[in-house]
Amino acid sequence: MVVMAHRGYSGRYPENTMLAFQKAAETGCRWMELDVQKTKDGVVVVIHDEKTDRTTDGSGNVRDFTYEELKKLNASALFPGIACAEHIPTFEEYCRWASAEGICTNIELKTGNYYYEELEKSTIEIIRAFGLEKQTMFSSFNHVSLLKAKELAPEIPCGALIGSKGIGNAGYYCSRYGFEYYHPGFGGLTDEIVANCKEYGVGINVWTVNQMSELEQALAWDCDGVITNYPEVCKVWLDYKGRVED
Ligand code: G3P
Ligand code: CA
Repeated sequence: MVVMAHRGYSGRYPENTMLAFQKAAETGCRWMELDVQKTKDGVVVVIHDEKTDRTTDGSGNVRDFTYEELKKLNASALFPGIACAEHIPTFEEYCRWASAEGICTNIELKTGNYYYEELEKSTIEIIRAFGLEKQTMFSSFNHVSLLKAKELAPEIPCGALIGSKGIGNAGYYCSRYGFEYYHPGFGGLTDEIVANCKEYGVGINVWTVNQMSELEQALAWDCDGVITNYPEVCKVWLDYKGRVED
């Protein structure tokens, strides 16, 4: 079961910063999950919220900043216990690092609340510029965005994100639309949905797995991956389980 660091090692470091990605990689985690949006001048950036207010010392919509303006914000200012300044990374900057480190990435297209014109196309251009097609996958709550990504880059797998309620026929649904993975919130996954995904050959990456009981259950369901704020804990526990069972 693959461990994906949710917004990097966000349980201990400021989410979606290069520090959080680096720290996750240092635990041996090879998969990162991150969120992409676009600035006013069309730069693809790595940030979760449409607004800068929760995670930085700035205020206002990401889409109303140029990248020159956005990069001056401190993305670690509001994180307890972190003294250094971290900027909001561009997706290109992240890809340069991921390419050098051999890191795989689950890229969430944040087009659920606000639709950024051609975010899919701009993101794919950067992935291709770094030759990262085989080390990436897309996910999104906006499944139309996933269909667009599929049309532009059929070689990159897609995971359909669904909130805590889940969908009963998820396997049928994903296979019908060509999505290789289903990405449910943990609370929305059941034995029946797992069985339906397996029946249709659809993989499951479940989020956000931050409790040991959830990790145990995800393993019992034979999920393909867990998306977690604590990649180190998950990796240590899975290594231990593997050793016990060998
Ligand atoms: O990939 C799972 C998760 O990232 C989806 O929710 O809000 O953390 O982006 P959110
Ligand atoms: Ca996300």
